[in-house]
Amino acid sequence: MIYPIVPYGDPVLRKVAADINKDAIDVKQLAEDMFETMYAASGVGLAAPQIGMPIRMFVVDGRPFNEGEDLDERDKDPSLENFKKVFINAEILEEDGDEWAFEEGCLSIPGIRADVFRPEFLTIRYFDTDWVEHTEEYEGLAARIIQHEYDHIDGILFTDHLGSVKKRMLKNKLADITKGKVKVDYKMKFPK
Ligand code: NI
Repeated sequence: MIYPIVPYGDPVLRKVAADINKDAIDVKQLAEDMFETMYAASGVGLAAPQIGMPIRMFVVDGRPFNEGEDLDERDKDPSLENFKKVFINAEILEEDGDEWAFEEGCLSIPGIRADVFRPEFLTIRYFDTDWVEHTEEYEGLAARIIQHEYDHIDGILFTDHLGSVKKRMLKNKLADITKGKVKVDYKMKFPK
């Protein structure tokens, strides 16, 4: 099932999402629906708040970043190999390394992209859809995608990381997105 994606301005995107109780939610079904929703919107990550659910779950599939037609073999990011995962009740235990800039976008903020600085490495603990606990280290674009999605379950958006000048420049565009005055080729849920 494809869910509509909620836009910038929806209060659900600003909530600190709650941990999921095992047995309360069919996480396998939800993960399947979240992947379907994400692929339909050509995204590489999707967090539950973006489909209106303030719970600590996100899905990622970074492999499309390595699949560009004119992408040279040496430009491929090894961190993205097999990087299709579901993160439940995740906790970032540590972030480390130099901050580096990458141009981010967000399915809840269509039409806007901007450089965001984040640390290079992270350690994260989470449950998969079989409720098996994992602690793993990530770097490169895999770490980047996790950091962006993890922010979502804490009510943070990539635009929050921008400087005040850039934020001011984007203010009207963001207000338009909230009102649904934006062109988008996937299903979104704008206020009536
Ligand atoms: Ni996002």
